[in-house]
Amino acid sequence: MRILTLLHTYIVHMVLGLSGRTTTISVIKADIGSLVGHHRVHPDTILAASRVLAEAKRNGIIKSFYVTNAGDDLQLIMAHFKGVDNPEVHEVAWNAFKEATKVAKELGLYAAGQDLLSDAFSGNVRGLGPGVAEMEFVERPSEPIVIFMADKTEPGAFNLPLFRIFADPFNTAGLVIDPRLHNGFTFEILDVYEGKAVELNAPDEMYDILALIGTPGRYVIKRVYRRPDREIAAVVSSERLSLIAGRYVGKDDPVMIVRAQSGFPAVGEILEAFSFPHLVAGWMRGSHYGPLMPVSLRDSKVTRFDGPPRVVALGFQVKNGELIGPADLFDDPAFDETRRLAQIIADYMRRHGPFMPHRLGPEEMEYTTLPEVLRKLAPRFKPVELGYKPIVRRSEELTGAQHD
Ligand code: F6R
Ligand code: MG
Ligand code: MG
Repeated sequence: MRILTLLHTYIVHMVLGLSGRTTTISVIKADIGSLVGHHRVHPDTILAASRVLAEAKRNGIIKSFYVTNAGDDLQLIMAHFKGVDNPEVHEVAWNAFKEATKVAKELGLYAAGQDLLSDAFSGNVRGLGPGVAEMEFVERPSEPIVIFMADKTEPGAFNLPLFRIFADPFNTAGLVIDPRLHNGFTFEILDVYEGKAVELNAPDEMYDILALIGTPGRYVIKRVYRRPDREIAAVVSSERLSLIAGRYVGKDDPVMIVRAQSGFPAVGEILEAFSFPHLVAGWMRGSHYGPLMPVSLRDSKVTRFDGPPRVVALGFQVKNGELIGPADLFDDPAFDETRRLAQIIADYMRRHGPFMPHRLGPEEMEYTTLPEVLRKLAPRFKPVELGYKPIVRRSEELTGAQHD
């Protein structure tokens, strides 16, 4: 799989020599503090980050950029010619977050610097706290992309819509009637607990794909490629903060880049997958299931019970590394009914209070403060006669993890 990816990169670079350079889109985000609790990013921090990116543009490190927010997450959208995982581009992002954090601290914003888990930058922001989604491609004559940014949820929240976009003909008509989509797509699925990945093809291995991605807390769709030419179609940030820090530091609030049209799903097919406000993990204290509500940038902020979880979609045309746009794609009455349904679901779920399945299950709660409560109560548990010997299965056995 890795070899195939390297081979594809090599071929892209060969073609690049003949037909022009590749463009890379990097979306890098972090919660560096917000205005009134975890509600939304402060405009002054957007300004501070924009200054750093403007300088990087003047210095030729990036070609263009757009800085925005998804709720309390500061979002850096950059286009450049330096490829994915580029140390210079990552350093620019890191410096932007550092500068924005300074402002956040001056203003006393809440949880200033929250997602910057380390002080030491060494060439790549991955593993240091920020979320990263990057893709590199040779620009088509017209290159539409959609960038999704979610708040108060986790990377696996994109599993369901990604499946619908790239594997479900009831969502994406092109899978059936456009010959360029008819061969299906390859899903690269990451096991975020074990640090392993597997590639599975749709439609042939659709049921295997669903067997994994139906557990979105563990199996996360990382990339999607078109078959058979392995053109990159989508990429998701897969960082899970609690798994990096080993303790609760908020949810991971993922971002995703999707290419559209002319051999990829149409923009409308991509957006259609968000017309169902499916339940995702996150919301209050990263510990509750709630509906994912598609909203405009204007409504990119969280209120009720620190939510409900939201997703923004910005469309850009990419031309010679310039980001033309954005189009605020959920800013449309066509999504009003989805939002209304999300409100009804939010009400219904909230009425469960601290009960599952509103509150997450014990495996997911492991990284919050619940273990402290359980530890405190442990000495007060006394043995009782059940009349049978219970078979206790460890949660990792239930989820199939291999431990020695
Ligand atoms: C969820 C989130 C918020 C906080 C909540 C408590 O990702 O960021 O729901 O968990 O507001 O925050 P603290 O513990 O900082 O008071
Ligand atoms: Mg926050
Ligand atoms: Mg957030």
